[in-house]
Amino acid sequence: MAGDKYHQERLETPPPPVGCPMHASWSPLNEDYLAEPYAIASHLRDAHPVFYAEELNYLVVTEMEEIERIFNDHETFASVNVQDPVFPLAPEAQQVLSAEDFNPVAVMSNRPEPDHGRIRKYTRQGFSNKRIKTLEPFMRRRGNQLIDAMLAAGSSAEFVDAFAFPLPGETVFRFIGFPEADDELLKQWCGDRKAFSWGRPTGAQQTEIAEQMLAYWRYCREFTASKQANRGDDFTSELITAHEENPDDITYREVESVVYGLSFAGHEAVTSAICNTLQCLLPRRDVWTEICADPTLIPNAVEEVMRFNSSQISWRRLTTVDTTVGGYDVPAGTAIFMNFASANRQADIFENPNEFDIHRPNAAQNISFGKGVHYCLGARFAKFETQVMTEILADRIPSLRLVEDQSESYSPNVTFRGPTTLHLAWD
Ligand code: HEM
Repeated sequence: MAGDKYHQERLETPPPPVGCPMHASWSPLNEDYLAEPYAIASHLRDAHPVFYAEELNYLVVTEMEEIERIFNDHETFASVNVQDPVFPLAPEAQQVLSAEDFNPVAVMSNRPEPDHGRIRKYTRQGFSNKRIKTLEPFMRRRGNQLIDAMLAAGSSAEFVDAFAFPLPGETVFRFIGFPEADDELLKQWCGDRKAFSWGRPTGAQQTEIAEQMLAYWRYCREFTASKQANRGDDFTSELITAHEENPDDITYREVESVVYGLSFAGHEAVTSAICNTLQCLLPRRDVWTEICADPTLIPNAVEEVMRFNSSQISWRRLTTVDTTVGGYDVPAGTAIFMNFASANRQADIFENPNEFDIHRPNAAQNISFGKGVHYCLGARFAKFETQVMTEILADRIPSLRLVEDQSESYSPNVTFRGPTTLHLAWD
């Protein structure tokens, strides 16, 4: 079915809602916003809780209450557009993805009800606490190996390459059940998937990513087939068994497509979450020292990072019928941009919202994992990974610090946020 395609091109959008404030120049890709979104996001929210961003062609919603209402009403505000490229695809990239065998279907974040609920019933089981805990020994062993290599190479390192990119990738690959021998290939294919849907890649970059997506999809299909014959203690094996027991309720193509989507969902946002955690903790030496002395503080510190400096600062929806948003009449087919950066810094919810406070009692009220039927299936997994990695670093390298005066850069992305490099030093 065409409507079930995993990645769709954006449809024509209706005109902006009548009377709604218009913003001609703001875009989440503006250089100043990429570098430091929070003050700008709060300013925009205070000026107009809902406004239309002309550059983006999206209706921007900035306040927590309205964002939660949208998340909770999945019939009016569908999630069908969340994986679609924000900007049009180059013809060459479209050509690559038109390959006859490139046919993953929407299964999780971009699949509407009731099918989404039907599929999530099975995928949810695979995200049990037990399965996540079984990955802990791998995370600790591999995390320690990467730290050993970092320490052996000198007194400073580029942390994204050395630790933050490989570890979450390999962890989600073990969760899915991919063999370790394929890790380097997989990391290459999944290298910059976030640029495809949420960035502004050039035509040549889009085509290159599209080729990787096609190669990766073919790999997922072969891998799922091989798992059919050779089950293991992994998420894919569980899902294949669920399909065999309930072939009409979860199809084989849906199983393949879940595998295809997971390695992205479970990778780059966690890479950035670890970097963002260190960006918050390391310059505040008293906080870092407190954490090194008492690792039980880490879980709430991670919640506070998800509020204060999240690796995901927006998400999208599409109106299915004429409705109202922020008091304005909004036509069906309007694309909605929910701005987490502004909602997570709301003073009426979070006291002194611009202060980073690892003891904040309601840090977990952040909206960074969404809400409602599509609430991030990997939220516990992501937080646990970030906690374990912070714990290993605090234990092994208490003298860890950011290299002074390093230039920070963020890749152009409307949703995912984390530094492209992070230089760390130690004594
Ligand atoms: C810090 C890291 C992460 C952040 C900030 C994040 C955030 C999100 C958000 C905002 C959504 C959409 C929620 C909604 O529409 O209501 C989502 C969905 C999802 N995430 Fe995550 N995520 C993270 C890590 C992970 C990991 C590690 C996995 C898996 C291993 C994962 C798997 C998923 C899946 C499968 C969905 C779709 C759920 C559904 O539609 O039922 N995520 N995530």
